[in-house]
Amino acid sequence: MEAKKRLFTGLQPSGQLHIGNYFGALKPFADIYDKHESFLMVADYHALTSLKDPVRLREGIIDVVKNYVAAGVDPQKAVIFKQSDIQEHTELAWIFECLVTVPFLMQAHAYKDKVVKGLEANAGLFNYPMLMAADILLYDTDVVPVGEDQRQHVEYAREAAAKFNLGFGQTFKEPQEKILTGIGTVPGIDGKKMSKSYGNTIPLFGSKDEISKAVMNIVTDSSGERPAIVYAIHKLFRTDVELEPLYDTNKGNYKALKEALVEDIEKFIAPMRERRTNISDEEVKNILQDGADKARAVASSKMREVRQKVGVAL
Ligand code: TYM
Repeated sequence: MEAKKRLFTGLQPSGQLHIGNYFGALKPFADIYDKHESFLMVADYHALTSLKDPVRLREGIIDVVKNYVAAGVDPQKAVIFKQSDIQEHTELAWIFECLVTVPFLMQAHAYKDKVVKGLEANAGLFNYPMLMAADILLYDTDVVPVGEDQRQHVEYAREAAAKFNLGFGQTFKEPQEKILTGIGTVPGIDGKKMSKSYGNTIPLFGSKDEISKAVMNIVTDSSGERPAIVYAIHKLFRTDVELEPLYDTNKGNYKALKEALVEDIEKFIAPMRERRTNISDEEVKNILQDGADKARAVASSKMREVRQKVGVAL
């Protein structure tokens, strides 16, 4: 029998999960994870590049695991763990950082965006792609389901693998990103990429009121008959064939279209929201403990090989 392929993805626990995260990464993962050997990571050390609030970080970690499970990931079928529990991630990141150059890392979008805005990037943000490369490569990952904004990071992981393999012999598999066509970037209510940092999100587990408030604030362009952003978000919940008659009969009636969108989001989310309330913090801790044991077994064996190859193991 052919061995199952390895799937790996991660999300930062730095704020409320939004429908961009869900359709860009969580759903593509949840749709196929049980046919693969799957790893789902809480990227808490990545979050530390921007979040400096221990209370919010702790809450965020618990929240993100509840979100995974409520979104349909069975912790018995996927390894759900947190990055900081497996020290091999930061250890391998260091080794990669010693292999790549500063100009190479200066090309990273997250770093460049900060600099363009005149903000000071911390060294963690600068090295971010190498920690993410370590996350992915430690597990001999084949496929990484992510949104479009993470494409470059997966390329960085491939480059890190290639550099290491060239210098020390074949060790790491080169992973492939899996970006759903048409869903690579979910727009926010202002039409830019939906992102926590832009404040333009529709929360996945928000109350109906919160969702309604966000949807009513979607920017509509008065020049066209069909509000493009409303339609783009609506398409995540219904097919074009279903949407055509609705948008035809409500030409120019943005309020009715937005109300229809709220109803469709609500119908979709209500069962997940319900499932989420039944997951206790205690359960989350057990899931993470169990996940850490499984992840550590894989990561520590890979790291033993790496330490031998680079020459630090005597
Ligand atoms: P993060 O936490 O910013 O986002 C989590 C996932 O959601 C996707 N996403 C989107 N997809 C479509 N449209 C949007 N508007 C949108 N906004 C976010 C992201 O592409 C991502 O897939 N660096 C990662 C976390 C990470 C990781 C990893 C991912 C750390 N290590 C290893 C994969 C493999 C991040 O910050 O994602």
